[in-house]
Amino acid sequence: MSGGDILEFEIRPTPHPVSDAERAALLVEPGFGRVFTDHMVTIRYSEGKGWYDARLEPFGPLSLSPATAALHYAQEIFEGLKAYHLADGGVGLFRPEANARRMRRSAARLAMAQLPEELFMQSIRVLLQYDRAWVPTRAEASLYLRPLMFATEAFLGVKPSSEYLYVLIASPVGPYFPGGVKPVSVWVSQDYTRAAPGGTGAAKAAGNYAASLLAQSEAIEHGCDQVVFLDAVERRWVEELGGMNVFFVYREGDRTVLVTPELTGSILEGITRDSVITLARDRGYEVQERRYAMEEWRADAESGRLLEAFACGTAAVITPIGRVRSVEGEFTIAGGNPGPVTLELRQALLDIQHGRAPDPYGWVTRVL
Ligand code: PLP
Ligand code: COI
Repeated sequence: MSGGDILEFEIRPTPHPVSDAERAALLVEPGFGRVFTDHMVTIRYSEGKGWYDARLEPFGPLSLSPATAALHYAQEIFEGLKAYHLADGGVGLFRPEANARRMRRSAARLAMAQLPEELFMQSIRVLLQYDRAWVPTRAEASLYLRPLMFATEAFLGVKPSSEYLYVLIASPVGPYFPGGVKPVSVWVSQDYTRAAPGGTGAAKAAGNYAASLLAQSEAIEHGCDQVVFLDAVERRWVEELGGMNVFFVYREGDRTVLVTPELTGSILEGITRDSVITLARDRGYEVQERRYAMEEWRADAESGRLLEAFACGTAAVITPIGRVRSVEGEFTIAGGNPGPVTLELRQALLDIQHGRAPDPYGWVTRVL
């Protein structure tokens, strides 16, 4: 079958699944992104033929020509979403159609074929049908789903590839930052930027992460957990962290005001960011999407006007930011402690994701 939005999946279950005992041991403290399930999904694309060869197969190595285009010119995108064990024993996904759409936007920006939303959803359903036992049931744990797609044409000319491989793998995960809701520290990168106007910052493109790694290493060298990127033109406006969006919490009179950098085209449009905006507004908080300067962050943290700051993303959920360092020195936010608005929004988000609270927005898609 080809061309349509639904494909018949060829099912090749692994002859050697991980035993129940071994899986249970792996699920105790899986960390982040080190343990993988028994299976993966692959779907191929070729110009003229469309999407074809959809299959579930044992998780394992891919065989690639050294001339594979993605290895040379980085035509590669990915997504990140989670499958949650629901309070009633089912399995739910959080806003998966938003990931499917973002993957299509990322593909468009990188001149790649766009996977139909329905195929994206189908790939997840098929994988979870076979790897359901890998969805952790412990609080704060989930099955992280990593869809990716890259250029597979074996050709060294610089042009959009005519062939792509979509792969879906899954990894049981605990908290991204060990230590749970312990506030993290961030390093403001002065020398390196992540994305420039007109670039690929709004796409979930592998190259953006490659560009972030040296700055992230610098953050670690300065004793920080994550890097904060400023805009590439003025090096003044806060954009986002290496893999998370960022929010600032103020109190103005009797109003709680959240500020988050506006989407300028160089920031990733986080699905958690969008969900936080909705949750905050529904609680009567004001949300401002606007430019936010590094000077403002420092001055308001030092004067005590800034009450809280937090990072958010699929992997990080909502994580308080306690300490900020840069070449200009260091400051803390709320004495380095998690704030009440951060904790309230975090709990509200997790409760919806895990089916412990009503889902008025229809964010959870039950798959099993
Ligand atoms: N910003 C970057 C650079 C990211 O990698 C991510 C993670 O996906 C996010 C923001 C948050 O996006 P989301 O909430 O959709 O996971
Ligand atoms: C995510 O939150 O899904 C991310 O992609 C962040 C990071 C692990 C790259």
